[in-house]
Amino acid sequence: MRLAVLASGRGSNLLAILDAITRGELDAQVVGVFSDKADAPALAHARDAGVEARPLSPRGFASRSEFDEHLFSLVDAVQPDLIVCAGYMRLISDAAVAARIGRMINIHPSLLPEFKGLRTHQQALDAGVRMHGASVHYVTPELDGGPVIAQARVAIEADDDVARLAERVLQREHPLLVATLREISTGRITWESGGVHYGRRPLHAPLQLDDCNRLIQDFPA
Ligand code: GRF
Repeated sequence: MRLAVLASGRGSNLLAILDAITRGELDAQVVGVFSDKADAPALAHARDAGVEARPLSPRGFASRSEFDEHLFSLVDAVQPDLIVCAGYMRLISDAAVAARIGRMINIHPSLLPEFKGLRTHQQALDAGVRMHGASVHYVTPELDGGPVIAQARVAIEADDDVARLAERVLQREHPLLVATLREISTGRITWESGGVHYGRRPLHAPLQLDDCNRLIQDFPA
């Protein structure tokens, strides 16, 4: 499976993918890393791994769609089977998304549909929920609104602040993303008829990451 990764920052999810590939835990190849930020550490991680790293500044483009047309022409050129948004912080134009439905996923730090958008850990603390986490979903034009494939749940502790909670969620994001990619690479997870299928059947509720970092269908108690 050829992966193109879009990332704006730190790139720890990209590193998790690259590490899983190196360890032989994911049968995939990262064929390009693309960023709207020239100084994104993600680009340095890509270069260190010998992967093509392409910064592209939105400055100089008249509109979001013009920028996306250019960005995705670079992405298409590496012929990815799947595009992974891993901390890519720019909205993507509807046309660019529509042309790639079922071929682009995103990792988001909340249990979608709860807490879309930014500052999700603060949103969760403000809402007083007891369970938080991360989701991997197919990208559709609705921001953070595409069908959810898989989730990792993280219990909120009484003395949590944003930094502590973000750190624990991030530790679960990495195995969540790798496990989801593995199931896509083996063809267990597919996009069919506008929705997520698992083992060729429509998936009615997101898969859950268990303590052994496997995706299961049973909802944890
Ligand atoms: C992660 O929390 C991801 O869920 C969110 O942005 C963050 C990116 O982290 N979309 P990193 O750049 O992969 O370290």
